[in-house]
Amino acid sequence: MSFISKIKSVFKSSSAPAKKAAAPAKKATSTSAPAEKKAASPVEKKASAPAEGVNPKEVDTLLAAIKERRTIYSLKPELPAGVTLADIKDITQAILKDTPSAFNSQPNKVIILTGEAHKQVWNQVVEAIPTEDGKKRPQSAADEAYGTILFIVDDAVTKGLQEGFPAWAAAFPDFAVTSNGAVQISTWTALSQLPGFGAHLQHYNFLKGFLGDKIGENETIQAQLVFGTKVADAGEKTYKDNAIPIVTEL
Ligand SMILES: Cc1cc2nc3c(=O)[nH]c(=O)nc-3n(C[C@H](O)[C@H](O)[C@H](O)COP(=O)(O)O)c2cc1C
Repeated sequence: MSFISKIKSVFKSSSAPAKKAAAPAKKATSTSAPAEKKAASPVEKKASAPAEGVNPKEVDTLLAAIKERRTIYSLKPELPAGVTLADIKDITQAILKDTPSAFNSQPNKVIILTGEAHKQVWNQVVEAIPTEDGKKRPQSAADEAYGTILFIVDDAVTKGLQEGFPAWAAAFPDFAVTSNGAVQISTWTALSQLPGFGAHLQHYNFLKGFLGDKIGENETIQAQLVFGTKVADAGEKTYKDNAIPIVTEL
């Protein structure tokens, strides 16, 4: 199995335990309704399903991918050997499809820039930045990266939700950005599993102005994943000791 098919199958199969994991919720709901005696036996039968269904190997694979994703600034403007643009598009497309959103509103969009479009956009960002120091990162994107994945929110979707559910109106912009962030980090994580792939996340969101009619008026760019072939690994990372308390009583 190629690395690409492996990654696709991991991200496909990672949805399987999640589906099975939904079972305990059902169980909790139905067992909390004592009146529904009839439901008791089928639910009991199902009770062992989650434990059997969760495959620790799949969880480990996902956790390893999350750990292995890093910010890689040192890139060259090529695709890694054996990786095609179609692979990058397909993986990103799968994540775009399966990422959850408020009320399943699916406000997220993605555009992939490469070739002259990628170069032109980043060169215009360089021109727009006044300081030499500030130009460095976008210049490296123009010269050293192969492409850019643009993460976009369709604000018309948010507006529609605000009109449809006025009581929640203030929350919908944050919900859209939360969901978009999930697309960003899942994409970054999945693609980082491709051997030789490197990427860093940027926020030159004003580059929308350089995209002409490739992006809609109602669409907002949230982030850019600048990618190419990794030249050097990320540096050492420090971690906070962010232990999670489990609270059972207040
Ligand atoms: C929401 C978010 C915003 C970020 N913005 C930028 C950015 O604008 N420019 C940049 O170079 N890195 C950016 N980063 C990358 C972080 O600096 C990086 O993830 C962090 O230092 C941890 O390093 P790691 O990615 O190697 O784990 C961002 C990361 C996240 C999650």
